[in-house]
Amino acid sequence: CNGIDVAMTEETLFVDGHRLQQQIDQLSSFSDTPPPSVTRILFTGNDVAARRYVKGAMKEVGLLVREDAIGNIFGRWEGSIPRIPGVASGSHTDAIPYAGKYDGVVGVLGAIAAVRALKRIGFQPKRSIEVIMFTSEEPTRFGFGCLGSRMMANSTNIVEILKESFDAENVSFAEAAKEAGYLDVADELETVALDVGRYSAFVELHIEQGPILEKKGIPIGIVTAIAAPASLKVGFKGDGGHAGAVLMPVRNDAGLAGAELALSVEKNVLASGSTDTVGTTGVFKIHPGAVNSVPRESHLEIDIRDIDEKRRDKVVDEIKRSAHEIAGRRRVTLTNFEIVNQDPPAQSGDQVVGAAIEAAELLGLEYQTMVSRAYHDSLFMARIAPMGMIFIPCYKGYSHRPDEFASLEDMTKGVQVLSLTLKRLSSL
Ligand code: GLV
Ligand code: MN
Ligand code: MN
Ligand code: MN
Repeated sequence: CNGIDVAMTEETLFVDGHRLQQQIDQLSSFSDTPPPSVTRILFTGNDVAARRYVKGAMKEVGLLVREDAIGNIFGRWEGSIPRIPGVASGSHTDAIPYAGKYDGVVGVLGAIAAVRALKRIGFQPKRSIEVIMFTSEEPTRFGFGCLGSRMMANSTNIVEILKESFDAENVSFAEAAKEAGYLDVADELETVALDVGRYSAFVELHIEQGPILEKKGIPIGIVTAIAAPASLKVGFKGDGGHAGAVLMPVRNDAGLAGAELALSVEKNVLASGSTDTVGTTGVFKIHPGAVNSVPRESHLEIDIRDIDEKRRDKVVDEIKRSAHEIAGRRRVTLTNFEIVNQDPPAQSGDQVVGAAIEAAELLGLEYQTMVSRAYHDSLFMARIAPMGMIFIPCYKGYSHRPDEFASLEDMTKGVQVLSLTLKRLSSL
C-alpha cells in the first residue's frame, strides 16, 4: 500500500449515489414495457435513446466519446501517458423483455460515477481510463449474448454469422442496424476487434444477480471466474391439421415434441449430478398457435451453463441426442439444431482481483470472492485483457425480472470500490 491510497477513506472519496440513482431512474424510462419493468432491445428506438443518454452522461463528466461500427460506446479519460494500454470499465444498457433497471446499467453509469469521484479528488491517471457501454450484452434480438464484447475480442466467425442473421420478425442484422442509424455497419464490422493488450485491465461493476451477498450481509463480491454459457436453437416440424379431425394415432405433433425436449433439458441437467449445472428453455413457440390446430412447428431456445465446461458440453450432447430420439419416435422432422454459442468459462486476472480486494480493504468494506453464474461482457474482455468484476447485492438475488433492485447504499459502495480499483490499475 502507498500512503496516498491509505488516506483515501470513504470521507475523502465522495461518490454521488443520489445522482447515480437519478440517472438509473431516467435511463429506465427508455423502455418498451411499462415501469417497473424495462425492455430495451438492440437497435430499437429505446436502445438508441439510451445510447444517446449514455453519451450525454459521458460528455457531462468530461469524457471523450467515440463509437465503433457495432455501436460499442467508449468514453475516454486521457492518461498522462496516453500511448500505453489504458484501463477499461463498463457494462451494458440493453435489457431483456420485462427486466429490471439495474442489470448492466449499474456498471455503465457506475463507471461514469467512478470517473466523476476520481476527478473530484484531483486524481490524474497515468494510464487512460475508458468507460465502455457494450452493444447487446443480452441475446434477445439476434441470439448472441455479449455481441459487442464478443466482437471486440475477435470471436471466431462472428462477423460472418452476423451478416447472415435475422431476428424473429425476419429483419436482417444490417437492416436493423441501418434503422438505428448505423448505416454501413455490415461493411465495417471487422474494425470492431481490438488487439490483445489494447487494455492493461478491464473491470466490470454489476449486481450479483444471485442471493449470496444479500443473505450474508456482505456489500462487495469480487469475481474470480465466470461460468461457461451455451445456447441452442431447436426446431421441430410435423404435419399439423385440424384439432377435431386428425385422430390421435396419426398425429405427429411438433408442439409435443418440443414439450418433451424441454422436459429432457431438465432431466439431462439434473443428471449431471451437480447443482452448478443449469438449463433453461426460455423460448418455446408453436405454430400456428390456434386452439383448434395441431401444432405444425415448434421453436425452442435453450440455455445451458456450468462452471465446468466439459460437464456443460456433455449436457449439450445429451440434449442433441434427445432431440433426434424424440423426432424419430414422434415422426416429426428435426428441422434445426443449432448451437448458437458454446463459450468457455473465464478466469479473472490476479492483478485486477488484487486491486479490487485492496480497494475494499482501504474502504473498510467486507467482501468475499465468488464465481459469476451469469455471463457478462467480462467473459469476452478476458480474452484481450486481465479481467475482474465487482458485485454488489441485489434484493433476494432477483434479476431479469421487473422487481430487480439494488439499494443506493450498496451501489455507492460498489462505485467506491470501482473508483479505487480504477485508481490503482491506472497507476500501475
Ligand atoms: C446475461 O444476462 C446472462 O444471461 O447471464
Ligand atoms: Mn442480463
Ligand atoms: Mn448484465
Ligand atoms: Mn447479463
